[in-house]
Amino acid sequence: MANRKYIVGNWKMNGLQSELSDISEIASIAAAHPSVDAAICPPVTLIASAASHNSAFAIGAQDCHFNEKGAHTGCVSAAMIKQAGASFSILGHSERRADQHETDAEIKAKAEAVHAAGLGAIICVGETEEERDAGKAVHVVCGQLEGSFPDKADSSWLTIAYEPVWAIGTGRVPEASDVEEMHAAIRNKLGKLMGEGADAVRILYGGSMNGGNAAELLAVPNVDGGLVGGASLTAEKFGPIIEAAAAA
Ligand code: 13P
Repeated sequence: MANRKYIVGNWKMNGLQSELSDISEIASIAAAHPSVDAAICPPVTLIASAASHNSAFAIGAQDCHFNEKGAHTGCVSAAMIKQAGASFSILGHSERRADQHETDAEIKAKAEAVHAAGLGAIICVGETEEERDAGKAVHVVCGQLEGSFPDKADSSWLTIAYEPVWAIGTGRVPEASDVEEMHAAIRNKLGKLMGEGADAVRILYGGSMNGGNAAELLAVPNVDGGLVGGASLTAEKFGPIIEAAAAA
């Protein structure tokens, strides 16, 4: 289990130039809590300006293509997001697995592409409500992890985010005991996939994390940080989560 908590904001399809002031305000809070690794993933259109607006935290992308270049209209490559100022990318978010039908094999290829470009990756995994109700949550999540797990993985560039699909944007959060069970299962699976280095890979929790529940979630064993959607959009909401991570 890593010592430094990692708090990542995923802005999804939110954010115009006018919202860059939020990045600056969040940067001030992050700078006041240097014991926390904070990051924001704005839409790709804001990566360059967000990167030049702050030096207190990392800027990431929300996705990139697995090919270096070519005829893929509307897509961006790892080298492109890197040149814009991103130091990592979220990959395999459940919204992309659902909306863009992304497969584990594509996510693995994307992770290997970002690593080859010298970037980090946060690979997302998580079960649907039907899968949890059917008692298959651990099986599904560990299957996603195995299928999307890149070659040459190590903690210097790879992070895993557990995001139960039914908790995203719903205000519903799993019981701490369920989060603990899943993060332990992910840790165990990482051990099988990569051996010793597994303990140092950070495993984030995501899904309706906010200033009110962050302290409890971040205290769960094997929860090394959070991947935050709605509550990352303003300093007012994201600040308390960074503060909770600093106190954890
Ligand atoms: P919410 O925090 O809005 O539930 O979103 C979580 C998420 O999907 C982050 O990637």
